[in-house]
Amino acid sequence: MTETDFIAPPDLLGRENGSTTWKAPSNIALIKYWGKREGQFPANPSLSFTLEASATTTTLSYQKRVRPGDDFSFKVLLDHAPEPSFEPKIAAFFKRALPYLPFLKEYHFTIATGNTFPHSSGIASSASGMAALALCLTDLERLWTPGRDEAYYRHKASFLARLGSGSASRSIQGPLMQWGRHTPIAASSDLYAIPYPFPVHEVFNGYLDTILLVDKGQKQVSSTLGHGLMKGHVYAESRFRQAGINLDALKSIFASGDLEAFGQVVEEEALSLHAMMMTSRPSFILMKPNTLEIIRHIWEFRTATNVPLCFTLDAGANVHLLYPQGFKSEVESFIKKILVEFCENRQYICDQIGIGAKKM
Ligand code: PMV
Repeated sequence: MTETDFIAPPDLLGRENGSTTWKAPSNIALIKYWGKREGQFPANPSLSFTLEASATTTTLSYQKRVRPGDDFSFKVLLDHAPEPSFEPKIAAFFKRALPYLPFLKEYHFTIATGNTFPHSSGIASSASGMAALALCLTDLERLWTPGRDEAYYRHKASFLARLGSGSASRSIQGPLMQWGRHTPIAASSDLYAIPYPFPVHEVFNGYLDTILLVDKGQKQVSSTLGHGLMKGHVYAESRFRQAGINLDALKSIFASGDLEAFGQVVEEEALSLHAMMMTSRPSFILMKPNTLEIIRHIWEFRTATNVPLCFTLDAGANVHLLYPQGFKSEVESFIKKILVEFCENRQYICDQIGIGAKKM
């Protein structure tokens, strides 16, 4: 599919008013997307686990405008209260999405959104939030021009979500999503994410992700800025190559269920992401002392017990603990005994791999 396949008919107009609600999950990248090209295209392919508990539910209400203007007309509610701070990002998204959703200026929209995870938990809501909004908008097109197959609408939702936030493209389906053109994956695309097409061992069924909330504050450097700093970064080309090599390495790891090799790749990806931050110009560090303490304890615990627990990091200080269902009780007692001390207000979120978004 190409970009032109996603252009809706210019006269696409539907009902006077109505609403639709979608719940979209967050995701955690195993192979990190860091660096982009003009048009929200990734500099390297990425792969993520779709989460289940951490999600955003959005109700999009629409009302046909009597006199549509040149601008967009919308308001955003977070947990039922106006949230004007979200408006610039949504306006930028609408602008990018307009060629593909020509009706955007014809309606007034109310975007009522809420997250299952605490607002200032340091967990980015952009992936789940943009995915939920993209699904609502795609749903309007589905209602007004039925007849396309489901695959088209799923691709379009991922395509639109990508225009809001790159990683959001991977929050439409699950359990493992791949985004970014990568020759060994025939169906891969820079335009949208696809379900990982290769065999995955049953040890990954219901894989657990416990998110340790190390620092719930606002990030000092946004991911937009971070992606930008990969332009001209001295290690950029090697990093983009490494992502492809690690994505290829996961193929046999997923097939065999080799959890030691899995941990090696996943942790290398997390630390490479942060190494890119530390070596960009200007450089920045998003990990906190407690992030490092947690990593040290994970490594000690793994050596002492052989429990296949590994970690990954987002663009922040929080630590995601990844482990199979079969080791739930061992890891839970390790968290309660040791790791919880390093979490802000002793808080953590228990999540697991999920199957994707759903209409409510
Ligand atoms: O989607 P963005 O622009 O917020 O970038 C996300 C970048 C990482 O979360 C660090 C990695 C990823 O692939 O999700």
